[in-house]
Amino acid sequence: MNDSTTTDTHDHNGSRSENTTDLSRRKFLTRISLWSGAFAAALVSVPFFGALLDPILNKDPHTWRRVGSLNDFAIGSTTLVKFLNADPSPYGGVTEKTAAWLRRETESKFMAFAVNCTHLGCPVRWKEEASLFMCPCHGGVYYKDGTVAAGPPPKALTQYQVRVNGGAVEIKTSPVPLTDMTS
Ligand code: FES
Repeated sequence: MNDSTTTDTHDHNGSRSENTTDLSRRKFLTRISLWSGAFAAALVSVPFFGALLDPILNKDPHTWRRVGSLNDFAIGSTTLVKFLNADPSPYGGVTEKTAAWLRRETESKFMAFAVNCTHLGCPVRWKEEASLFMCPCHGGVYYKDGTVAAGPPPKALTQYQVRVNGGAVEIKTSPVPLTDMTS
């Protein structure tokens, strides 16, 4: 009788201890998954909030960027140049680079156009044989000076400032122009 009582008590205690272990394991796993979820959410939100706050934190998006030397661009040529944004963030990768069409008019006069079509923002291409910029999306066409020749673009290509500094050609960065879908 005594043996049976002892065994019962033992079983009872053993089952309680198993329950306690189960409970703490479950608690531990719940905590781990909560912390992992919070960590993943934090990782995802860093670039999101960075991009959101960028215009507030970066007061001056205008920085002169070297895009080549004077001799790299023949007079009358239009060349695609790539350069870093004004304030590249370490997590931005290739999105921190932008491009422009650089046209050399004379010995000292350059023009630089944003690659984005002013209709809905598709990248325009320079067609040397026609001396025109063409937009592949809806047939927008621009003259070599960036003004609209045909199609839906509501206005000329946006221009960047260009300067010759010593022997270097430099473009002044500015935010990528947004298209006005209502125009
Ligand atoms: S985006 Fe260029 S014509 Fe529509």
